[in-house]
Amino acid sequence: MKVLITGGAGYIGSTVASACLDAGITPVILDSLVTGRREFARDPAFYEGDIGDGALLDRVFGEHPDISAVVHCAALIVVPDSVRDPVGYYRANVVKSLELIQHMIRNGCHRLVFSSTGCFYQPGPDGSVDEGSPIVPESPYARTKAVCEGMLADIAAGTPLRVVSLRYFNPIGADPKLRSGLQARYPTHALGKLIEAHESGQPFAITGTDYPTRDGSGIRDYVHVWDLATAHVSALTGFDQVRGAAASIAINLGTGTGTTVRELAAAFNQVVDRPVDVVDAPRRPGDVAGAFTRTDRARRLLNWQPQYTTAEAIADSLRWAAVRDEVLAGN
Ligand SMILES: NC(=O)c1ccc[n+]([C@@H]2O[C@H](COP(=O)([O-])OP(=O)(O)OC[C@H]3O[C@@H](n4cnc5c(N)ncnc54)[C@H](O)[C@@H]3O)[C@@H](O)[C@H]2O)c1
Repeated sequence: MKVLITGGAGYIGSTVASACLDAGITPVILDSLVTGRREFARDPAFYEGDIGDGALLDRVFGEHPDISAVVHCAALIVVPDSVRDPVGYYRANVVKSLELIQHMIRNGCHRLVFSSTGCFYQPGPDGSVDEGSPIVPESPYARTKAVCEGMLADIAAGTPLRVVSLRYFNPIGADPKLRSGLQARYPTHALGKLIEAHESGQPFAITGTDYPTRDGSGIRDYVHVWDLATAHVSALTGFDQVRGAAASIAINLGTGTGTTVRELAAAFNQVVDRPVDVVDAPRRPGDVAGAFTRTDRARRLLNWQPQYTTAEAIADSLRWAAVRDEVLAGN
């Protein structure tokens, strides 16, 4: 089996490519390197270019007529940038996705696994969500994902295109074999703050301890990026059974329990040599309690559940951070 991975030189796409390779699926990568890294696309066939470039897509499908599915990870993903430049984000994430779909259909490729997000849900009172929860995007970035899903559902209803949208929660960790990981030195979320605190010797502040969660701190659904990647392998190998009679379907990928900030800090301190001091602090403006997903659909349709604990995911983030500069030579 051969698959095209757009954005396959990025954090998640490169991990999906490695999981495919390990599972005997041949990945072909298309990436403009706008945020991706050439070093992450060493093993598979690699095309540098834009998903909206029809001539390039014709060349990819012409040279690999046996591509049976596309995993579409390519996107711009920085929420504050999407607020500053909504036109650029709609063009990059929606318009170019539409062009990619057109080029796929023209080339007779009708299976799409779409990288979507779990960040657009409105959580219930217990903080949990599932695929039926209300979708209330709070940023242009999140809305581009919701718009894409709607667009893909409409196209699937009227064409041979078939779509499995995987809605990721909060990926952390790295390829356990350290072939790739996060390009940035520090994650932008709480784990990045913990790593910074560990390096500087400063305390880590839990900002907000009066949320309606099990310990009062905010909750997120951190999931090991390798677990996300293996979910793609399941979606690809079982594509037609996974979606059943539906032309398009969405599946949440998270842990089922979530991790509070306090639990994240405790897990971090389990895996580091020198524990970080943890202090309570008031909420910051704009902070939210957060959410986590129920995983029944992923278990049922993909026969998937996360294999890694939060502590293991943190350990892999740290192992990656230690080799990152060497893998990304000169950066
Ligand atoms: N990282 C997260 O927390 C997260 C959470 C939920 C969903 N997602 C989704 O997962 C996907 C991958 O995210 P990531 O974290 O790996 O980000 P990333 O920035 O590491 O990867 C995106 C990749 O797409 C490439 N790309 C962007 N626009 C392109 C274009 N027009 N043509 C060709 N290549 C292009 C970039 O160069 C990069 O390699 C995105 O669709 C994102 O929305 C990410």
